[in-house]
Amino acid sequence: MSVQAYAVRDEQRPPDDVLLQVVQRGLRATPKRLPSWLFYDEQGSALFEQICEQPEYYLTRAEIALLNQHAGDIAGVLGPDVRLVEYGSGHAIKTRLLLEHLVNPVAWVPIELSAEPLRQAMARMSTHFPDLPIQPLAVDFTKSLRLPVPPRAPRRTVLYFPGSTIGNFEDRDAAQLLRKMRGEMGDNGGILVGADLKKSRKTIEAAYNDRAGITTAFTLNMLTRLNRELGCNFDLGGFRHRARYNAMAGRIETHILSNRDQRVQVGRYDIPFREDEAMLVEYSCKYSLEDFAALAATAGLAVQHVWLDPEGLFSLQYLTARAV
Ligand code: AVJ
Repeated sequence: MSVQAYAVRDEQRPPDDVLLQVVQRGLRATPKRLPSWLFYDEQGSALFEQICEQPEYYLTRAEIALLNQHAGDIAGVLGPDVRLVEYGSGHAIKTRLLLEHLVNPVAWVPIELSAEPLRQAMARMSTHFPDLPIQPLAVDFTKSLRLPVPPRAPRRTVLYFPGSTIGNFEDRDAAQLLRKMRGEMGDNGGILVGADLKKSRKTIEAAYNDRAGITTAFTLNMLTRLNRELGCNFDLGGFRHRARYNAMAGRIETHILSNRDQRVQVGRYDIPFREDEAMLVEYSCKYSLEDFAALAATAGLAVQHVWLDPEGLFSLQYLTARAV
C-alpha cells in the first residue's frame, strides 16, 4: 500500500472548550443557530451514508449516474498526470469511478477531519488502486491547506469537491472557499465541484424528509452529540426536525424545533427554548447553471465544462482560473 506514513490522529474533533464556545455562541444568539459540521461525529457520518441510500435522496444516485456516463469525458478534459485532491473523503464509489478513467494520476489526496472515515476511504481505495500514491490530510478543508509534496510533478492539481457539499455554505462563504481553492490549485489547476440543481419543491423537500426518518435521526443526532461531548441535557423527545425549501433563496433550510417551552444546560448557561422555536442547523443551496457560474466568477473562476446526470437533477462543474 503506497500510503504515505502520515499519522492519522484518532480524535479529530475540536477540543471541548472550542466546541463549547461555538455551541454557546450559537444558542445565545437570536435566532439560534448551530453549524452543520456538528452533524458529523461517527454516528452522524454513518447516518449520512444511510441517507445516501434512501429512495428520496436523489443527489448521490444522480452524481454516481453522472460519473458512470461521463467519467471518460471528464478524465479527457482533466488530462494525464493529475494530482487529485479531494475535499472530504466522501463516497468512495464516486472517486473510484473518476480514478478509473484518469490517465496516470500522480496521487490522491483525501482531506477529511474525522479519522475513521478517512481510514476507511484509504483502505478501500488502496485495494482498488494498489499503485496509486495516497497522501491523506486530516485537517479542516475550510482552513488554508499545505498540500503534501507530490511523489512526482503533476501536470495539474485538480480539487475534487463532490456531493454538493458547497451548498452547505451561504454564497459569501462559498465564494470565499472557492477563492481559497483557487489559490491551492495553482494557475494551471482546476476545481471539479458537484452542485445540486434547482428543481421542484416536491422533489427537493422529499430528499430532506425521507419516509424512513433517517434524516430526522441525522438532524437530532446533533443534540445527542452535544449531550455526550458537552454534558448538555437536551431531551431528545422534546425536539423535532424540519426541512423546508426556501424557493426565494434557493435552499433547503433545516431547523431543529422545540416541542415545548423548556430550558437546556449548555456549560454554565441555562438556555431557554420557546415552544416551536426553531434553531437553524443547515442550509443546502440549490443552483441554476447561471447561479453557479456567477458564484464561480466572484471567486476568479470560470466554468469550463458542465456535466449533468441523465435526469438533469445534478451537475458536476469544472472550474478553472478566469482569464484576467
Ligand atoms: C453532504 C452537505 C451534501 O446538504 O444534501 C443530507 C447533507 N443533510 N441530508 C446535503 C445532508 C441532510 C448533504 N451534504
